[in-house]
Amino acid sequence: MTHKIAVLPGDGIGIEITEQAQRVLSALGLALEMESAPVGGAAYDALGHPLPPSTLALAKASDAVLFGAVGDWKYDSLERALRPEQAILGLRKALGLFANLRPAILYPQLANASSLKPEIVAGLDILIVRELTGDIYFGQPRGVRTVEEGAFKGERQGFDTMHYAESEVGRIAHVAFQAASKRKKRLCSVDKANVLETSQFWRDIMIEVAKEYPEVELSHMYIDNAAMQLVRAPKAFDVVVTGNLFGDILSDEAAMLTGSIGMLPSASLNASNQGLYEPSHGSAPDIAGKNMANPLATILSAAMLLRYSLNEAAQADRVEAAVQAVLEQGLRTADIYEEGTVKVSTSEMGDAVLKALH
Ligand code: IPM
Ligand code: MG
Repeated sequence: MTHKIAVLPGDGIGIEITEQAQRVLSALGLALEMESAPVGGAAYDALGHPLPPSTLALAKASDAVLFGAVGDWKYDSLERALRPEQAILGLRKALGLFANLRPAILYPQLANASSLKPEIVAGLDILIVRELTGDIYFGQPRGVRTVEEGAFKGERQGFDTMHYAESEVGRIAHVAFQAASKRKKRLCSVDKANVLETSQFWRDIMIEVAKEYPEVELSHMYIDNAAMQLVRAPKAFDVVVTGNLFGDILSDEAAMLTGSIGMLPSASLNASNQGLYEPSHGSAPDIAGKNMANPLATILSAAMLLRYSLNEAAQADRVEAAVQAVLEQGLRTADIYEEGTVKVSTSEMGDAVLKALH
């Protein structure tokens, strides 16, 4: 059976890093059909929309999407619906990618890269499970309206709506509990239940679902405290589950703990394990086209693609082992370079991973 992969490189360094991940996927000897399409700013320039219908159709018809990155300052003045970010939000919604898995792992070879003391982060391995298609990100109504009564009567007012339905919380809870049961069996649900109704509801559902996973220890934390604990004692966490908005913030924080966001992959899955795989970092327009970017987060995203959407766990392990091997060899792109290691370009890093596969 041939697996179909949509490759959406996007903008900036997205192009050069997806190229390396594609080389790795091609080298595995699997029956893969990869087809590329424009997305983000590149798609706006070529076809007038960040997520053109042809790109969306390709993504829908594929088993998995390998996504680079989108965005560039030059699109900042466009109306919201045409900005590059809308491509990723549109793909999440259209494919129903409600479960976002963002691992934050500190590779022993990169222990000095973190801005935290090595003893606080050494051996860090946490997984953020972020709900990705609900919450205030997509809640309706939203917009700008005129206030009709009260202290601000007659003024314009910006507003958004936060809500979560029972099944939306339930399904992300199951993903998180299942992930935790395969790891250290600790799940921390992060909310703002001391203030928000939506969060209290979220917490109630988490407690209900927990009954089905007696082997997993569930705890709860308010988002402000979680942000603090994540820098104070990050290793106390195993799996963290949270909503879309809090997860956006916490996952960036968790990524930074490792000091090497260029190393971190992510997976966004729907109910049938169709998924979108992308590095956790952005399009880095300042270094785009310079063959300097770190392709490892995208290569590791391709490994997640193999594991979750193609059910090729052994091949995923093989790719991850090859990445470990190149780090072990001392090869580093500029973002993770330190004295005593060997600085390599994007394509040289790709070459080295390919070699390490064999
Ligand atoms: C992310 C990004 C996106 C988000 C943006 C680009 C819309 O920050 O994937 O975390 O907020 O979800
Ligand atoms: Mg973000």
